[in-house]
Amino acid sequence: MIASEKNIFSLTNKYYSYVFRVGDNGILEHVYYGAPLNNPINSFSHHYQTHRDGVLHFQGEKNYNLSEIPQEYPTFGSTDFRFPAFHCKNEDGNTISVLKYKEHFIISDKKPLSGLPSARGGNCNTLIIRLEDNSHKIVVDLTYTIYKNHGVLVRSSKVKNKGNKKLELSNIYSSSIDFPASQFKILHLHGSWSRELSEETMSVPRGRFIIDSNRGSSSAAHSPFIVLCENQCNEISGNVYSSSLIYSGNHSISVEKGEFNNVRLLTGINPFNFSWSLSPGDSFQSPEAVHAFSKDGLRGMSHIWHSFIREKITPVSFKNKPRPTYINTWESSYFKVNQAEVLNLADKAVSIGLEMVVLDDGWFEGRTDDTSSLGDWYADANRFPDGIQDLAIKIKNKGLKFGIWVEPEMINTRSELYKNHPDWVLKAPESISSLGRNQLVLDFCNNDVVNYIFDKLDSLLSEGNIDYVKWDMNRNMSEVGSPKVSIQKQLEVPHRYILGLYSLLNRLTKKYPNVLFENCASGGNRLDLGMLSYMSQSWPSDMSDPIGRLKIINGCSYLFPLDVLSAYIGPSPNHQNGRITSINSRFNAGAFCAAQGISLNHSDIDKNKSELTELMKFAKEHSSDMIGGRFYRLKKSDNAYCWQYITKDYDKVFLLYFHILSGPNEPFKHIKFVELEENSNYLQVCNGKIYSGNLLMENGFTLPYVSMTHDNKNISYMPKGDFTSKLFVFEKI
Ligand code: GLA
Repeated sequence: MIASEKNIFSLTNKYYSYVFRVGDNGILEHVYYGAPLNNPINSFSHHYQTHRDGVLHFQGEKNYNLSEIPQEYPTFGSTDFRFPAFHCKNEDGNTISVLKYKEHFIISDKKPLSGLPSARGGNCNTLIIRLEDNSHKIVVDLTYTIYKNHGVLVRSSKVKNKGNKKLELSNIYSSSIDFPASQFKILHLHGSWSRELSEETMSVPRGRFIIDSNRGSSSAAHSPFIVLCENQCNEISGNVYSSSLIYSGNHSISVEKGEFNNVRLLTGINPFNFSWSLSPGDSFQSPEAVHAFSKDGLRGMSHIWHSFIREKITPVSFKNKPRPTYINTWESSYFKVNQAEVLNLADKAVSIGLEMVVLDDGWFEGRTDDTSSLGDWYADANRFPDGIQDLAIKIKNKGLKFGIWVEPEMINTRSELYKNHPDWVLKAPESISSLGRNQLVLDFCNNDVVNYIFDKLDSLLSEGNIDYVKWDMNRNMSEVGSPKVSIQKQLEVPHRYILGLYSLLNRLTKKYPNVLFENCASGGNRLDLGMLSYMSQSWPSDMSDPIGRLKIINGCSYLFPLDVLSAYIGPSPNHQNGRITSINSRFNAGAFCAAQGISLNHSDIDKNKSELTELMKFAKEHSSDMIGGRFYRLKKSDNAYCWQYITKDYDKVFLLYFHILSGPNEPFKHIKFVELEENSNYLQVCNGKIYSGNLLMENGFTLPYVSMTHDNKNISYMPKGDFTSKLFVFEKI
């Protein structure tokens, strides 16, 4: 997989080749990234050295201009004027670094990063290239891991101060890729609360296009994920280069089209408002960037990400485990939860065949609305007089599992914790704190805080009655500062916070591997590979309306397998956008997510009991099917979505057709299945019809039609009205 000969390094597997070389002057030059090459070690760079008026000659070398030479890890201050991967103020007070090849190491497998989540090893090799700025004794290690069975390249960088004076690091991207003059389109995912992961596509503009976060979390505004699609690329064909980061804090991914049409992709911690001071002997480790290349368009790319995330990112303990169906109290009861209410909901859960009760926000001391109590992680004595453990046991005695909501990183000023420790919050001195949902952020740079929260959660979990934890985080960070960190190091606080968070998650999830942790941040405000390294699933959005959610799931699916997502049937009219939809459509929008449930009040459950029972039976029956399979975006338009899903054993195929607005007298629509077994037959479960795989793929399947004269029950017809959907199951026979 890794070869090195005559100053050329190549990483090749069945998915891609990645090649770079050490130039005669020691600069690491990028040579090739793309479909696998037969003989990568013999590849050569395109011609880049030519006389141009206005060209600078790097260190006197004729026509060698770093603004045009593709590099592996560009710096600033010499002949390259684009944004650099690395920027550091040295002992002379300037920021000029010239990093040249010093040595390299190849190791089998891969080492975890210290203090940061990282992709698991196994069936992989790692190449470490050591670069050095000889004048200032700055050493940078670039680490590249290639797996035998994944189309991803994992990169990170680490700087070490080998000199005897302080360095001020202001920018250390995890990875940089210089593409030759290219025409790319960008696809990225943006959004906000309740409309996370909306996709946007655009041509790469000249100049620098950046998606980033300076909110303290990876954020819903810009997911740390970007796709560069070669011009003719589409869902099923063409070269696609994509990048994400195993990190949950302030990230930055930038695409810069330079003066010679060359395109630079940088992925890493956001350099804006970041600085890290490196005393002699100190080092700084970047998070890991992950790149996925596919020559089979966006679908091929998504499948690479899905299998990599399952195999190498999400916790092993829940890898192949079906998730319990559940009721969540949030949209059922909001803050009006108490022992009797939860036990009643538990009875309702039993009556419709659910498997778990999740007690969401509102259970702890004084928490009757969102103005108080975050930080006081003990049961409200009035509303839960027998405590949480007792409630959990009562629920378990009904044959159900029990889950609980926490928001451990936050604090209300109206809380015991704040009274006792007003200095435990993130706050810049002399600033006036802005509140978000009436709350402040705890200072996770402070070990005492992290230990305190660990103890609180440990005592909640240690009795073994809690099966699931929904870990929420409901505000962005502002007026950031930490009294625990020296004045000179205040710009280190956002990253130190994330290191504190990771240390807490690491301790807890190691101690409780059998607790199912769900990541949530007002929905998808921190949905990233960092959080998924500790938590097996994520609540992608508070948008529980199916039409709103379809878009979110479609966006998610570019990067995430749907078995890291949870879904539920929420109320109608929907509480976020007021839309009225059927129970069936509310279920169907999330049907391919791993965790299925409901969040409805008593009367909604009673009114819809038989339909809910039927749907939850379906969810339970297929809960293992929804883990580990292949998802296909067959169709997406303003008015329709069609998704296909094949189980990991290839035995079942699901087809979901979602129709947004109904129109009269519409033409028939057909959809061609993909990746079925050509010579196998498939039984359409609802009507016993048998089709050959070949027929379904080549001739296609007629999508249900809206008819004014047929009733909703006929399977060939769509239910009448807007926002309707049909989910078909086919079994290979
Ligand atoms: C956030 C979550 C919701 C719910 C509430 C509780 O908004 O996204 O699902 O848990 O907090 O306060």
